[in-house]
Amino acid sequence: MTTINLESQAILEAKGLGKYFQVGGGFRPKRLRALHEVSFALGQRQVVALVGESGSGKSTIARLLVRLMEPSSGKIFFRGRDILQEEPRTASLAYRAQVQMIFQDPFGSLNPVHTIGNHLERPLLLHGKAKGDAELRDRVHELLETVELKPAAEIASRYPHQLSGGQRQRVAIARALAPGPSVILADEPISMLDVSIRVGVLNLMERLKEERGISYLYITHDIASARYFADRTMVMYAGHIVEGAPSEELMHRPAHPYTQLLLSAVPDPNGSMKSELRAKSGAPKLIDPPPGCPFADRCPSVMKVCRQEMPGTTQLEQNRWVRCHLFGQGAESGTVGLQGMSAAGPGSVLPVGVAS
Ligand SMILES: Nc1ncnc2c1ncn2[C@@H]1O[C@H](COP(=O)(O)OP(=O)(O)O)[C@@H](O)[C@H]1O
Ligand SMILES: [Mg+2]
Repeated sequence: MTTINLESQAILEAKGLGKYFQVGGGFRPKRLRALHEVSFALGQRQVVALVGESGSGKSTIARLLVRLMEPSSGKIFFRGRDILQEEPRTASLAYRAQVQMIFQDPFGSLNPVHTIGNHLERPLLLHGKAKGDAELRDRVHELLETVELKPAAEIASRYPHQLSGGQRQRVAIARALAPGPSVILADEPISMLDVSIRVGVLNLMERLKEERGISYLYITHDIASARYFADRTMVMYAGHIVEGAPSEELMHRPAHPYTQLLLSAVPDPNGSMKSELRAKSGAPKLIDPPPGCPFADRCPSVMKVCRQEMPGTTQLEQNRWVRCHLFGQGAESGTVGLQGMSAAGPGSVLPVGVAS
């Protein structure tokens, strides 16, 4: 059916995205490899989570996708169009209307001297979504009601400091909605909010997905919230996406040793963590990264080949893949490896905290 075909088509697609930053000044500035050949696709009305520890490159991906900066290599496609080739400001404005971003800190992203109404008027005017004062006011009120901020007229007249953290993040969501986007990149949108209001904000985002057909790239270091909100989850480590799978599958049968580490690090009410994994901590080297898999130094299953070459992508099942030598050509077969791990490996026991 047509609908199914449409749903399966990618709206936003990254192909081989790479990003280097120059760090340290002086005579010998160094190159930090923040992203290496990152590829993924976001479908219509789909939520894809990007999970990984701090510094793994999650925000860099989002900033490249909204064109806050340019990649060192790779391409970005929006509805099949190569958007990095589209230079004119007008094309770029249309793209920005379609792909919006929400940041972690709603207070930092709102201007303290502007009212909530001012914050929403600006994108409405910039993207031609309202003309004249009355229409502008109506649109602002509609947006506030959409994100469940009522009474809208009163909220519009307030300043950011007069709202709670959760209300401010709802304003940030309303502002992202103003140009009528089809994709929202949400960079840790709930991590600064009180635990008690996090689910409310995720539920709002879910409702907007249903009502407006919005797709999300949901960036988080909290793998449990990815399970709650995202259809698919991708795991990042040191600038690489190392595993991608439907969220449920990933949580129940993590394939990559790093995914298993992430799941085992989710707080467990008994206070226990898998000690052999916890012991192997340490930051990966992003400046002059050594050859091979960046996780090799921390990996409980490290083999000789892991320090020699970066593993390629192994398709485990139709919808899931992993980049790990345990599942590569040397291994018997990806699927066998996955089942073996599920039965006996460190990922076999799902920490209690993940289920909540
Ligand atoms: N503008 C920048 N200049 C130099 N290094 C940067 C810059 N932005 C990010 N980085 C580095 O790139 C890596 C990835 O950063 P980031 O994408 O912010 O990670 P995450 O969002 O996963 O915490 C980190 O090592 C970070 O220090
Ligand atoms: Mg970040």
